[in-house]
Amino acid sequence: MDTKQEIEKLRRDIEEHNHRYHVLDDPLISDPEFDRLFKRLEKLEEKHPECAVDYSPTKRIGDRPASGFLPREHSVPMYSLDNIFSLEEWGAYTRRLSRLLPGEDFEFWVDPKLDGLAVEVIYEQGVLTGAATRGDGVRGEDVTLNMRTVRNLPLRLIEFTAPPEYLEVRGEVIISREDFHRLNRSQLENRDKVFANPRNAAAGSIRQLDPGIPAKRPLRFFAYGAGLIRWDAPDISLDTQAGIMACLKRSGLATAPEAGLCTSESEVRQYFHSLEADRHNMSFELDGMVAKINDLGQQKRLGFTARAPRWAVAVKFRAVQARTILEAIEVQVGRTGALTPVARLRPVLLGGVTVSRATLHNADEIRAKGLKLKDQVLVQRAGDVIPEVVRPIIEQRSGLEEEFVFPEICPVCKSGVDRLPGEAVYRCFNLSCPAKLVQGLNYFVSKAGLDIDGLGRKWIEILVDRGLVRTPADLFRLNRQDLLALDRMGDRLAGNMLKALKQGLQGCTLERIITALGIRLVGVETAKLLAARYRDLDELAAAGQEELAAIKGVGPEIAGSIRAFFQTGQNRALLRDFREIGLWPAAESGADSGNAQKPLVNESFVLTGKLGSMTRSQAEELIREMGGRPVKSLSAATSYLLAGEKPGAKLARAKKLGTTVLDEEDFLELIARKQKT
Ligand code: IVH
Repeated sequence: MDTKQEIEKLRRDIEEHNHRYHVLDDPLISDPEFDRLFKRLEKLEEKHPECAVDYSPTKRIGDRPASGFLPREHSVPMYSLDNIFSLEEWGAYTRRLSRLLPGEDFEFWVDPKLDGLAVEVIYEQGVLTGAATRGDGVRGEDVTLNMRTVRNLPLRLIEFTAPPEYLEVRGEVIISREDFHRLNRSQLENRDKVFANPRNAAAGSIRQLDPGIPAKRPLRFFAYGAGLIRWDAPDISLDTQAGIMACLKRSGLATAPEAGLCTSESEVRQYFHSLEADRHNMSFELDGMVAKINDLGQQKRLGFTARAPRWAVAVKFRAVQARTILEAIEVQVGRTGALTPVARLRPVLLGGVTVSRATLHNADEIRAKGLKLKDQVLVQRAGDVIPEVVRPIIEQRSGLEEEFVFPEICPVCKSGVDRLPGEAVYRCFNLSCPAKLVQGLNYFVSKAGLDIDGLGRKWIEILVDRGLVRTPADLFRLNRQDLLALDRMGDRLAGNMLKALKQGLQGCTLERIITALGIRLVGVETAKLLAARYRDLDELAAAGQEELAAIKGVGPEIAGSIRAFFQTGQNRALLRDFREIGLWPAAESGADSGNAQKPLVNESFVLTGKLGSMTRSQAEELIREMGGRPVKSLSAATSYLLAGEKPGAKLARAKKLGTTVLDEEDFLELIARKQKT
């Protein structure tokens, strides 16, 4: 593989792991392993600037917002943090700071890196008025109602001098270890989903459309910083991180525990050691510390890279390691037919958790690490994620270790496996391999797909095994009798399953079904592009290679994969089935082939006050029809405020933010003008 190919492969791998982590909540590799891939990519891209592209994961500020919530723009982008993994790197970091700001001294505000979901909470005149997830860093999801259920988050701030006129508090929503175990016990009793770790539980709770669910979860919010602040009071100081944190605390917000000011870079080292020594006694999961330059003036002068501030860095804890025996290597078959080897380990205690499996990725990795069956191996994990095998302990070999031979046939359907040119993974190409079918169905009903709750992998396996389901369309043809004939299936469970299927079918959008098809290289993002371009699956299936490749963000490789998918007879038949059972979503209004030419594309509008010639929802409809986006709350990123009679507080805010304010006449004129150009 040449460097260019390696870079491209790293990008694809990182994209896939991101998707598994953030969208499916089902990570396959450990955080340190992910970080290593990321670092390697960063390094290669730095060395080979000719390979740079905008879509590289290294160019992303955060992660994409999920659908279902209203989008909400951040007035100041929510950046990510650069990670470092040792105190040597910390030394290099501070030397770099000294190079950037020569002759200056630095103080650092340090706090634990909490492992939860990043959220911004907005207070106006001291009253909680909004909340958004980080999303892609620029735009998140409006989770105001859900955040209002978080019990340690004040709905109104304590007024110690004057309330802040406008305050964006940033922090992490987390669940404590103890609460997490209690929650999982009760989930288990109620036969509900059990969470993999506190982070997933917290993130999953906030991203529920029904606020009744987060209200029942033991969520807490800890502030670690602020976005935009407008606060004029005699006895507050907002020119240091320490000052901001003190104001947040005095206002009644919970701030990250164990935080404090270090007056030198060596004090930061001491802080790191004591935090690491204490980490397992803390009531929350933490995976490192964050050090931020205390002085906001210095912060400003240091600024940001494309992805992260230069004035802050996360120092991760060393991963916990242990030795054990590699008992066997099992090979699993994924949705795309990819054969993934998994290490079966003699159970070993690793940072308080018994570990018996670890990911191995592919045949090349086993070879690269030089692993043999029955080897003593070093394993490591960080947080509650899937552990990894670091290396064999060669000095301990007895000579009885065995070479692992990668299977030449699919372990499930026994047909031959092969690798595509340039790919590291072996695949089973049998279209009706039951393992692929199960994985495919599982993906079809997953959050990214039709989001059908209550149809777990176990049940899918059983349905496939009994021959009741051969395609995704078959799921919707199941009836009560079919289900009740299965072992351990009760009336209530069957009822719930059918209800969930029905809801999935009714709520299915074009974007979701395109994602759910599991076309190679077509994830949520590409599905979005396609759903914005085509009216339904038939139109998409009829699109030619060149037309597809010309869509911005698609390109020839993805276009080829889409064509190949719809050229397969089986997949054509699947579309006919979908239509027959009424699973046939059409593009939502505002999204059709002409979208790119529409006059208000890329413009966002906030509406306020009473309009004369139309109702607000008619105006919103009009904006959508013209390709624009009605949004609920104002931010610096909002394009226009459309103000009718009695506009209220939004008008004042728009003026402060410098947002263009339109009255009804201006608005109609704008459309007319833009239509002409
Ligand atoms: S400061 C511009 N402080 O880590 C700097 N982030 O990897 C913004 N996080 O999205 C972040 N604990 O969700 C900061 N004490 C802490 C943190 C923290 C956890 C998360 C946060 C952020 C992510 C970046």
